Amino acid sequence: MTHDEIIKTIIASSGTSPDVQRQQLLQYLCQIQHDLSHIPGHAITQLADLMQMPEAEIHGVIDFYSFLHKDARGEYDILLSDSITDHMLGSRTLLQQLCNRLGVEPGVPRSDGRVTVDTTSCTGLCDQGPAMLVNGTAVSRLSDSRIEQICALIEAGTGVSQWPAEFFEIEDNILRRDLLLSDETTAASPDGSALRALIASSSDALLDVIEQSGLRGRGGAGFRTGMKWRFCKQAESDSHYVVCNADEGEPGTFKDRVLLNSYADSVFEGMTLCAGIIGAQRGYLYLRGEYRYLLEPLQAVLQQRRDSGLLGQGILGKNGFDFDIEIHLGAGAYICGEESSLIESLEGKRGIPRKRPPFPVTLGYLNKPTVVNNVETFMAAAKIAALGADWYCAAGTPESSGTKVLSISGDCERPGIYEYPFGVTIKQVLEDCGATNTQAVQIAGAAGTTLPVADADRCIAFEDVSTAGSIMVFNNERNLLDMVQNFAHFFVHESCGFCTPCRVGGSLLKDLVEKLVNGHATQYDVAEMKQIGALMQGTSFCGLGTTAANPVLDLLNRFPQLVEEQLAHSGYEPAFDLDASLQEARDITGRDDAGAHIGSHT
Ligand SMILES: Cc1cc2nc3c(=O)[nH]c(=O)nc-3n(C[C@H](O)[C@H](O)[C@H](O)COP(=O)(O)O)c2cc1C
Ligand code: SF4
Repeated sequence: MTHDEIIKTIIASSGTSPDVQRQQLLQYLCQIQHDLSHIPGHAITQLADLMQMPEAEIHGVIDFYSFLHKDARGEYDILLSDSITDHMLGSRTLLQQLCNRLGVEPGVPRSDGRVTVDTTSCTGLCDQGPAMLVNGTAVSRLSDSRIEQICALIEAGTGVSQWPAEFFEIEDNILRRDLLLSDETTAASPDGSALRALIASSSDALLDVIEQSGLRGRGGAGFRTGMKWRFCKQAESDSHYVVCNADEGEPGTFKDRVLLNSYADSVFEGMTLCAGIIGAQRGYLYLRGEYRYLLEPLQAVLQQRRDSGLLGQGILGKNGFDFDIEIHLGAGAYICGEESSLIESLEGKRGIPRKRPPFPVTLGYLNKPTVVNNVETFMAAAKIAALGADWYCAAGTPESSGTKVLSISGDCERPGIYEYPFGVTIKQVLEDCGATNTQAVQIAGAAGTTLPVADADRCIAFEDVSTAGSIMVFNNERNLLDMVQNFAHFFVHESCGFCTPCRVGGSLLKDLVEKLVNGHATQYDVAEMKQIGALMQGTSFCGLGTTAANPVLDLLNRFPQLVEEQLAHSGYEPAFDLDASLQEARDITGRDDAGAHIGSHT
């Protein structure tokens, strides 16, 4: 097919109204990017005509998402995961090897158009890294020899679908199961138990059950799910929406990938339950672009549910219980995990956060009342509806009922997925995953908290150490500054740029962290970092900016000795190395005497 034909087919697959199509804009762009490896200018013109919108607006959307490109990428588009756990497993050396062998610079397509090699933020495969994406498909457990094989396949022009199947084996790695993941209880939902419970009683009664269970959101903030659903149900409107947040972009978090891979039916059941309770007819699962390889299997699960009468018109024969789910892809923007950005992105726009309040429960998708919940939250809700609030409350603590699914990676013998009742100590988790010689535990990802191992008696719970799922272990041989530097870069890359404290503060912090890493920072810089961090926490527009300084502040406050050892002893050192910058002039003039060095005069 020609470019034009591909674009026409993509556009023809949707409705006709420009308004409906505008909401599909990001989906069209993702599909064009996927099929053509970029979004050509004539595609932008065609889309602008069709949707009756300025081309500039489409350019703005493309520029926002890191997976969308206006210039052609290589026939093989490779993105190496750049998470700190990938670094710990040797990804930087493998990147160099890949670039050398293929003769490419990172981010620049090879002159023959064959291949592009670049990095991307965490791909959600920290337990089986180093990992990469090739044309949207994940390759895990990279090694020297796997890289050599990949290079040979690329040079031979072998299509990705012909590459050895073992390259694409992604394991669930579930190493501890409890209420949600135990085989016994997973059997309860796929047959529609939660929906039968709903039909057998009433939406009010089931909402009471969710409230009594004490279920709190698993996406990070821990808001009470029953209360969220009640607010949404009470909001008057001609339509309500249910949205599942499967953006899972927090470095170190990969449990939603596993839940979607092996428990998707339960997740969709939870969404349908929510729809039945709040009165929604339409739901969306927002799937991060890095998990594109899950799209087809998820669509198959949806179809199976339609065929079984668990989705569509008159669910389980109940008149008026109509609900269906559509999957929307993200395109490489961490900020789109924030619920209001996610809604903007679902509407086909740039993922800039909205001002809150109003919250999505009153003005969400298309300004209609919308419930946004994490993948695990929906799954837990389905189980609770089927098995009761008491069953759920029997596990956990009074403030944090039930269990938490953790993604564990880093320096431990058994990285993977562990489900624990809330209240488990960090010490227990470390023991179970085979962590020894531990220096620090990073909990809840880049936006979370870093604790010295001396704090391992603390508990995973909303009232103590809360996490959306990530636990990264660092042993005594690691330099924690590498982690802090990686996260500082991550936040600069992922800031949407809308507000000054995050956009500028994040960048200043990154530079100061680099200065610290390079041994040029002084006490003055430490004070500066604390001040910028506090400013970002207090004045940023959304959760990304308010948490972006956490890794730096934790380092300064909880690991002072490490910082002290790194400090230069002069009162002040500029971040810019003036003497080094004069090297080129010295080379040109052939001088290297004391007078040609700045330091010799100070
Ligand atoms: C920068 C940022 C990224 C986020 N990423 C995610 C995410 O990937 N998945 C998620 O469920 N929640 C994420 N959240 C939290 C959501 O905004 C929201 O609170 C959550 O989806 C609500 O669902 P829950 O109540 O089930 O936790 C993020 C928040 C911020 C500020
Ligand atoms: S805090 Fe950062 S991500 Fe959030 S709106 Fe401001 S610039 Fe954007």
